[in-house]
Amino acid sequence: MTRKPKQRPQDIIISMAGVDKSFPLEMGGQQQVLFDVTFDVHAGEFVAIMGPSGSGKSTCMNIIGALDTATGGTYKLYGTDITHMTADELAVVRNEHIGFVFQNFNLLAKRTVLDNVMLPLMYRGMSMGERVTRAREMLKRVGLERFETYLPTQLSGGMKQRVAIARALAGDPKLILADEPTGALDSKMGNEILRFFKQLNHDMGITIVMITHEFDIARYADRVIHIYDGRITYDGPIPANESVLVKSEQKARKK
Ligand SMILES: Nc1ncnc2c1ncn2[C@@H]1O[C@H](COP(=O)(O)OP(=O)(O)O)[C@@H](O)[C@H]1O
Ligand SMILES: [Mg+2]
Repeated sequence: MTRKPKQRPQDIIISMAGVDKSFPLEMGGQQQVLFDVTFDVHAGEFVAIMGPSGSGKSTCMNIIGALDTATGGTYKLYGTDITHMTADELAVVRNEHIGFVFQNFNLLAKRTVLDNVMLPLMYRGMSMGERVTRAREMLKRVGLERFETYLPTQLSGGMKQRVAIARALAGDPKLILADEPTGALDSKMGNEILRFFKQLNHDMGITIVMITHEFDIARYADRVIHIYDGRITYDGPIPANESVLVKSEQKARKK
């Protein structure tokens, strides 16, 4: 077994310090969804963010992924404080650093598999030929090189998610963010996707942050950050069983 290199402060790629997030309510006032969320992720980690539905996981992932900004605290990505960036600046950060994988694949239904994978390369200053070559390499990596002319609707759920992973990898990100990536798949296909993430993390050193509400999925990661009612209640290695996480919720409730 290979041992993970020692974590160094300069390898921190995600750093949240006291992050709060509130949404304005239609009838006025605010609803606070995240409270004082603080954690670091080092390069090469595979982290699961776990919590029940409505606990704030997606909100947290949107901030990590520069799709939204915090309303309090500080968020640094690759050492750069992006807490107060404009939407255009955030788009550049996303395109440069992050590959996204979503529960519902988010593929363009009317475009071929190859077109879908080429999409994030549009803004990279690559020629058409280079983009095609790169996209084909990525499809090969996920075992779908024979399906490049297919439309997403012609593929199974597991295959669609592999296309989405190929697209996420096309821009050569060091970080992949996956929000409930197996949520729309049966368990066999789901496990296949999770093993693939494990392999990307292990063989290519890609940092993975995966959101899930299921302990059996979180177990594929090396570390779990448990969120409950917008607060971190556990952050550490995968416990032997889920009761450790449930207990951490109970402790937080008593406070
Ligand atoms: N854009 C939004 N506006 C208002 N409330 C929101 C918004 N996004 C999420 N919320 C609220 O924040 C809470 C957490 O949501 P979310 O982060 O999606 O949870 P999870 O992904 O853990 O299910 C929920 O109560 C949800 O209704
Ligand atoms: Mg969610």
